[in-house]
Amino acid sequence: MKLLLLGSGGREHALAWKISQSPKVEKLYIAPGNAGTRNVGENVAIQANDFDAIGRFVIDNGVHMVVVGPEDPLVKGIYDYFKADPRLAGVPVIGPSRAGAVLEGSKEFAKEFMERHHIPTARYRSFTADRLDEGLAFLETLPAPYVLKADGLCAGKGVLILPTLDEARRELREMLGGMFGDASSKVVIEEFLSGIECSVFVLTDGRHYKILPEAKDYKRIGEGDRGLNTGGMGSVSPVPFADKAWMQKVEDRIIRPTVEGLAAEGIDYKGFIFFGLINVQGEPMVIEYNVRMGDPETESVMLRIQSDLVDLFEGVAQGDLDHRTLTIDPRTAVCVMLVSGGYPEAYTKGYPITGIDSVTDSIVFHAGTALKDGQVVTAGGRVIAVSSYGADKAEALARSFRGAQQIAFEKRYFRSDIGFDL
Ligand code: AMP
Ligand code: GLY
Repeated sequence: MKLLLLGSGGREHALAWKISQSPKVEKLYIAPGNAGTRNVGENVAIQANDFDAIGRFVIDNGVHMVVVGPEDPLVKGIYDYFKADPRLAGVPVIGPSRAGAVLEGSKEFAKEFMERHHIPTARYRSFTADRLDEGLAFLETLPAPYVLKADGLCAGKGVLILPTLDEARRELREMLGGMFGDASSKVVIEEFLSGIECSVFVLTDGRHYKILPEAKDYKRIGEGDRGLNTGGMGSVSPVPFADKAWMQKVEDRIIRPTVEGLAAEGIDYKGFIFFGLINVQGEPMVIEYNVRMGDPETESVMLRIQSDLVDLFEGVAQGDLDHRTLTIDPRTAVCVMLVSGGYPEAYTKGYPITGIDSVTDSIVFHAGTALKDGQVVTAGGRVIAVSSYGADKAEALARSFRGAQQIAFEKRYFRSDIGFDL
């Protein structure tokens, strides 16, 4: 079959790498892809949000399935766009409908959904600008620190954690005053939860689900989890505290109620669900939902899926996921992200990257790269993910750090303490 994968980051290169191993795949297109995805498929110069161009490409090239990497096209309704066009309705889109993508697109919707289905999450209330006074009063009922979340999508920047009441009051005013534009016209204020985070992923056909390997990601730029938040500096799978007993709680209290809740509410959901969880004294609670795979979690999770991912996608499309098998590699997989100096603030793009081919003990996924006059150059904040297997975390990390040292570009930076807290 012919598949089209949408997106251009490290997550998409890892998905493309895994998809391309399937004997069912005759052709894999990636739109728009990056300098790495072209090694496992054919890049197509179409942006992931350009639904008309995507639809035309699918029709003209006889594409059989579309897999969506990032959240943006999902929140904008690519699933529904395909359903609404008789020429495209028969082409399955792996990803939820617009109604399902609201789980990520609106923090308030996600909180209300969890409340309706008794899914454990932090206590919260949400406020609009006309109810600023009530929001300020609610803050006073909470202990520090304070968690403020813009309701809408903010490219990962919409969550503020403030140490003092004064700062929380000031930021609430600013957010409701338009700090993130429309996305923060409504703000969720929630109780701060303390614990270690863990990303759990499922693939669902709307009724059945498969639980994929879990992972932990490292969001801060600095070692020891200090400094600014980034898109993610590395990941480790499996996560030691996510043992059988803990994962059983996750399945019973969070995964099953979520999938059943979506079905009960008549929401069409055929795709990935990403549960951002936190382990609060042994009890899993939901920090957030995402409606796609995580990045950089995918760059370790894909290494641990032994089964044919495309067979699982077919199960999603046909609604018989319960008849497909998911086998998981017992080895540890990790990824270390190489980023541009300056990231997540201002940085320079266009530096030549060397040494990629000398890495033989790891799998190199491109995140922000481009091809310029035949040379691979940096084209983003997160540039390259070096992913490795190991008998344990230490062995896998040693490989990734060695690989990371072999790849060079100006102002390259990476965290050498990935996995330090596990
Ligand atoms: P989100 O965009 O919802 O994932 O939030 C970004 C990050 O903020 C999360 O990964 C957590 O580290 C942190 N965070 C969000 N909500 C809470 C909370 N209620 N308690 C503690 N930390 C939180
Ligand atoms: N690694 C977190 C995310 O993809 O949102």
